[in-house]
Amino acid sequence: MWLSTDYAVCNAILRDHRRFGVRPAGDPGPTSPDTSGNTFDLGFLEREPPDHTRLRQLAAPAFRPKMMAGYAERIAEFTRDLITGIERKAADGRPFDLIADFAAPLPIGVITTLMGIPDADVHRLSEHGTVVGSALSGIDSPEEAAALATANAELHELFSELIALKRAHPADDVISYLVAATPDGITPYELQTTARLLLIAGFETTVNLIGNGIATLLDHPDQWELLRTEPERAPAVVEEVLRFAPPVQNTSRFVHEAVSIGGAEVPAGSWIMLILAAANRDPGVFSDPAVFDITRPRQAEHLSFASGIHYCLGAPLARLEAQIAFTELATRLPKLQRSEDAPTWRKSRVIRGYSTLPLLVG
Ligand code: HEM
Repeated sequence: MWLSTDYAVCNAILRDHRRFGVRPAGDPGPTSPDTSGNTFDLGFLEREPPDHTRLRQLAAPAFRPKMMAGYAERIAEFTRDLITGIERKAADGRPFDLIADFAAPLPIGVITTLMGIPDADVHRLSEHGTVVGSALSGIDSPEEAAALATANAELHELFSELIALKRAHPADDVISYLVAATPDGITPYELQTTARLLLIAGFETTVNLIGNGIATLLDHPDQWELLRTEPERAPAVVEEVLRFAPPVQNTSRFVHEAVSIGGAEVPAGSWIMLILAAANRDPGVFSDPAVFDITRPRQAEHLSFASGIHYCLGAPLARLEAQIAFTELATRLPKLQRSEDAPTWRKSRVIRGYSTLPLLVG
């Protein structure tokens, strides 16, 4: 496999969707559910135009930057309730788990509300998210295949029921808009995979932005202090966390025609892995790239949300959630610190984040 760690090369490949695609030439992708547990169809993230364009356009209205103001208060409410729960749990000086008690339930609560999923089972969805996130870098054992098959089946059932509900009782939510686009705009299978993509992408990455961000800030007390005393810096904090500790470490592109790039001759039919996390530390683009600095002058946009036609659709939402989460945590729990219990890392080569992050309120 070819691989690039260079900012300019990664950016150029991501922006050139004619020569570099998300799937092999002539492969339209599955059109019916896979129950084997070997794959998870990521919907339009893994589709080429014109299907990609059509499906992305259907999902896009809910994620436009101008919609964010309407979501902010709800996100702040979720955030405040979760912090109150942490204060109670950790009142006697015991550690709490930032992931289970905060970073996972926040984005799950937000995206399930946005999608109109009633009474969402946060714990179960979080488990499915972890399984799908790990599977992004391949299935490594029969146990993982079985877990993925279960996640596929349960999510299929969840969305079949939800789609039927929204068809009967349309509401002001993303699934209702998608249902309204059938039968001409979207097939039943596409409706399923689009819904699953939005759900899983909506929390599986944001949980790690919050987890990686708080861990990094606590490991750099001067930066934590700066955020605490000047919370208006939150947007810059989010960008620097995304650059420095990205939740999605890499992505890949299929080479449709032979190309000379970055000093290499890459034949058609190859895959190129783009190490987004390394591009974010390209010393030709970011000065002192290994330094975590929330006051860093803007040199270029990091590639943590990718670039080009597959640029993360949920980026405005992820940014907003993380800004509110970091600000509220720094203001309400200013003495937050790592506990003596060691954190644990998730098992994945694409997603980077903690499975547990024990902290003390201080
Ligand atoms: C910190 C949080 C997030 C990160 C780091 C992230 C990262 C990414 C990346 C790297 C891609 C492009 C992958 C590629 O081109 O190969 C992507 C695409 C996507 N993301 Fe996010 N994401 C985040 C949050 C979200 C949220 C909250 C949503 C909301 C639903 C979302 C929805 C999507 C969708 C739908 C796509 C596919 C876009 C397309 O193919 O046109 N993401 N994301």
